[in-house]
Amino acid sequence: MKILFVASEGLPYSKTGGLADVIEGLPRALQAAGHEVVVLLPRYHGNKIASVLVSSVSVALGDKMRFPAIGEGAPVKGVRYFFVDDPAYFDRAQLYGDKTGDYPDNAERYAEFSRVAIEFMKRVWLPDVVHCHDWQSALVPLLLRTQHANDPVVRSLPVVLTVHNLGYQGLFPPAAMKSIGLPDTLYTMDALEFYGKVNFLKGGLIFADFLTTVSRRYAKEIQTPEFGCGLEGVIRNRADRLVGILNGVDYGVWSPEADPLIAQNYSVHNLDGKKACKKDLLAAFRLPEENMDRPLIGIVSRFVDQKGFDLIAEIAGDLAKENLAVVALGAGQPEYEKLFKGLADKYSARVSVKIGYDNTLAHKIEAGADMFLMPSRYEPCGLNQIYSLRYGTVPVVRATGGLDDTIQNFAVKTQQGTGFKFDEYDGGALLGCIRAALKAYRDPKVWHTIQANGMAKDFSWKASAAAYVTLYEAAKRARIPRVAGSSK
Ligand code: ADP
Ligand code: GLC
Repeated sequence: MKILFVASEGLPYSKTGGLADVIEGLPRALQAAGHEVVVLLPRYHGNKIASVLVSSVSVALGDKMRFPAIGEGAPVKGVRYFFVDDPAYFDRAQLYGDKTGDYPDNAERYAEFSRVAIEFMKRVWLPDVVHCHDWQSALVPLLLRTQHANDPVVRSLPVVLTVHNLGYQGLFPPAAMKSIGLPDTLYTMDALEFYGKVNFLKGGLIFADFLTTVSRRYAKEIQTPEFGCGLEGVIRNRADRLVGILNGVDYGVWSPEADPLIAQNYSVHNLDGKKACKKDLLAAFRLPEENMDRPLIGIVSRFVDQKGFDLIAEIAGDLAKENLAVVALGAGQPEYEKLFKGLADKYSARVSVKIGYDNTLAHKIEAGADMFLMPSRYEPCGLNQIYSLRYGTVPVVRATGGLDDTIQNFAVKTQQGTGFKFDEYDGGALLGCIRAALKAYRDPKVWHTIQANGMAKDFSWKASAAAYVTLYEAAKRARIPRVAGSSK
């Protein structure tokens, strides 16, 4: 099958979060299963184009015309990468915004990206199925089913839309309709209108043939008011077309046996290397070596409300009384950066933080920490806790979304389980959970069992890729009856 991925970020070219890992791992797994996969991304700062295929695509955005190009990048492991190239829109310091907030022209930037995606299909590479991701490419199904409904080349293309995070919908003021070049007839309740705003994701949820999200539990959660972010009704209406498919892991990138970014490789058979990694990690965070004797909790995260840091703020005083050390890597909302900086100042011998994005350090934390903390308020899938399992770094998580689907609570009685989970979004519950983990840590035999349980788990992409293929096939079948009677 020929599969086109349309996404706003993807490794090895661009990344702000887990979406980029998925846009690297899933295409590779599909390619390995014998499919032909092409990934279309915006060309951001530093991305190199090897050849220009279309030097000017005319895109009408309201009363303005823009002329982005389409170029091809270097293929990676058999997957071909193409770029929408409009430097004024995409060659910026960041992907979606800077310290002052989201870029004010995000509606136009990603409307253009989605329009060029359709031109790409018509002029460069026609797929059998299109797979869009999040709000930034959610206009693709809407455009195909409305403005391109009579376009003989693309009108019957099936589209799958994956929701990686319902918290980000692409919401813009009503005036955006004009600036993205869409008619007011699409500013209705059954298209883009959402409580007086334009909602890109809603358009995709309504017009895609199939919807997926990145864990089974999150697929259920987003149909409820608590997690639906106002779109629960729209999603419930399409429940028969919604599937939860868990993200996988590219163990070629994330495994302690071969990771080139960590101090010493190790495996479940010999965890000595993990000690060397802990020592190296403490040094990287400038924490004294005496912390080798304490359990070390690692955090790698975007510092945003979703990730549960207000709970950590709530229990910081109690946590500091425990005999433990913490290293945190992340960037985001100023209040959480301040929280971690404050803790690092106050408990400088045991707590350290690095504000920023640093892939090498993320690997060092996975390898060198004893526990990985993810107390998310909600979590569509979450990748770090799955990486942690493979590194023998025991996850401490809240039982929500993908965290609940991937981590089994350790039970002393059966010695089964891979981590520690708490249910209520509450500081006391988090503290109790961390204390249970600390208790288990004090018994090396028990701790080794939990590590080994986690390291034995297999979350490779193979099974998830097969589930997507089944869905792509269903999407193809779903398209046929609707175009019956037409010439194509
Ligand atoms: P989300 O996509 O919501 O941010 P995930 O757990 O799915 O959460 O994925 C996060 C990805 O981004 C992981 O690969 C993680 O290692 C990486 N990451 C997050 N913050 C940083 C950071 N500050 N430095 C390096 N990598 C980071
Ligand atoms: C989102 C979610 C995260 C998920 C990732 C990749 O950023 O917050 O839970 O793992 O997308 O699907």
